[in-house]
Amino acid sequence: MKKARLTKINSYNKWLTVFAMGCIFCVNCDAEMDSRAVLRVRADKIVARVSPLHAGLMTEEINNSFDGGLYAELLRDRAMNGGLRATDGALGSWSMVPNVRGGAGIALDLGDPISSAVPTSMRIDAQTASSTERVGIANSGFWGVPVRANTRYRLSFYAKTAEGFSGALVASIESDDGSVVYCRRNISVGSGSWNRYEANLDTSEGILPTENARLVIATEHPVTFWLALVSLFPPTWNNRPNGNRVDLMKKLAELHPKFLRFPGGGCLSGRTEDTRFDWKKTLGPLPNRAGHATPWDQWTTDGMGLLEFLEWCEDLRLEPVLGVWAGQSGSVELPAGAPLEPFVQDALSEIEYVSGDASTRWGARRAADGHPAPFKLTYVEIGNEDGKPGYSARFAQFYDAIKARYPALQMIATGRMVYKGVETLAGDRVKSRVPDILDEHYYNETKDFLAEASQYDHYDRNGPKVFVGEWATIEGSPTPNLHAALGDAAWMIGMERNSDIVIMQAYAPLFVNVNSPFMGWNTSLIGYDSLNSYGSPSYYAQVMFNEHRGDEILEAPLQVVPGLFTSVTRDSQTGSIIIKAVNTRETLCRVRIETLGTEPLAPNGMQIVLTGKTDDTNSIEHPKKIVPVESELNGVGASFEHEFPGNSISVLVLDPRK
Ligand code: AHR
Repeated sequence: MKKARLTKINSYNKWLTVFAMGCIFCVNCDAEMDSRAVLRVRADKIVARVSPLHAGLMTEEINNSFDGGLYAELLRDRAMNGGLRATDGALGSWSMVPNVRGGAGIALDLGDPISSAVPTSMRIDAQTASSTERVGIANSGFWGVPVRANTRYRLSFYAKTAEGFSGALVASIESDDGSVVYCRRNISVGSGSWNRYEANLDTSEGILPTENARLVIATEHPVTFWLALVSLFPPTWNNRPNGNRVDLMKKLAELHPKFLRFPGGGCLSGRTEDTRFDWKKTLGPLPNRAGHATPWDQWTTDGMGLLEFLEWCEDLRLEPVLGVWAGQSGSVELPAGAPLEPFVQDALSEIEYVSGDASTRWGARRAADGHPAPFKLTYVEIGNEDGKPGYSARFAQFYDAIKARYPALQMIATGRMVYKGVETLAGDRVKSRVPDILDEHYYNETKDFLAEASQYDHYDRNGPKVFVGEWATIEGSPTPNLHAALGDAAWMIGMERNSDIVIMQAYAPLFVNVNSPFMGWNTSLIGYDSLNSYGSPSYYAQVMFNEHRGDEILEAPLQVVPGLFTSVTRDSQTGSIIIKAVNTRETLCRVRIETLGTEPLAPNGMQIVLTGKTDDTNSIEHPKKIVPVESELNGVGASFEHEFPGNSISVLVLDPRK
């Protein structure tokens, strides 16, 4: 029955898969294969349309993705409670200045907090301070505070001093040993009770960029003072006060993503109900946000809260894909029915916060938080990788309540999970309702993705659409190498060719701070330290493919080329034909490309190629070792020969003759 539903494109690809799987690594027969290799592009046969939302982003707090990553805050443990709750010592990133105690001392103080969500402050006893021996505290950031020339850093903190003091604290950004001061500022502080202070710290010309710096706040007068919620922001994307790191946003923009799935992943569910992403606790001014432990052994400040995720969508024009907690955390699940109902209502409130106008209760709260305009919301996902027996019933409870109030919303159920070629969660767990979309996850090695690159050619076209919400070749650490990128690209080609059913897909995880001791996942797309960032070969493969997507999928059988994977689309606006190819063989692959049923092609097109040694990768030190190279493609015609280099990912653009 299933077979009868397959489209035409799928039957020829099925044949190809069987052939290719038999001899993927058969290098000896390369020459013979090449002489018969033909890619026949039927430009008059559009087999499907490329989904307009096809490629997007999946994100969560893992590997210091936000704190110490995209969220631009430069200070770690800014609320001074990380040390109490995380695993890296009582003071976390804080230390005393000078580091020889003498008559001075610092201590965490739980009395008289600035808010119930931020219960801790730092008490600094500085009775020995003088104009030649300041006393205060330093923060070394997320493994180094980054400094650049001609840059404004926005400092804010809460402070109080012992009664009777009036004077200034001195804030400075300086080298980690204090020998070089990049900028400093006196900030007058009052006495007695908490006040919030803000100051700009401006660097001048001529500073060589460094990540080996720290922030110091100190006194040069004898006094006891307290500091709480100390924050330092560099310039942010779109100048948002609680915003995102510019270099990372730029890298995301260059991926041309169409949607953002948040807040996880494992971070949606948490290890326990208490540590799930509890969206209400991530709203409003920072003193209201307590932060929470993630399932990846990292503390998050929740500075990246629900509104910040939505503003990220706004900044990059992304469709939000909102994950709502579905009653499962770790190995514990709530039963469907009355125990689950408060959380169903909570999800309805969350949807209202996102998309309700300012006259609704939660829309009004969003307006009060600074964003009166509602966000467009179309996709809501119920849970993440939820494999508990009760999921089907819980899904039904959410589905019915959400569809009753928001009939236009598309409901996503969590579907298959495959890890290293083994299905760890089956895809047909939801029997109670038919979800609009099923979210499938694949973490594989290259060989698994090559073997399964055509799996969607055979999917049922009458069932739910598919969102491949998490996928990645897990080879290379902390970011993938070229071998992984080959697997990723072959997998992407299969998803693009079938994007009538795979309507959305996103690589995961997106980010890794390469210095993080809380690295929850070995292989992530984009790496960074506090100063610099780089894209992995897999990142560049996605940039290449997403920049040249096309919107019409053309019939294009590929004959007799094991180890070569192709997809052909056309841009209906320009008429350009786009060929994506991955040659996973060591040796070059010569292919005759025939285009039938099209206007004459310009003799010169364009090619972009990503290639190198399979274990090569990019890094902070060598960010551009493997990058795409663009060049003119000569000799294009109705039938021409092209050589795809060994271990390469290519995009060919064939333009119509003017
Ligand atoms: O991407 C890392 C994790 O992998 C996600 O949090 C989870 O959904 C999956 O198991």
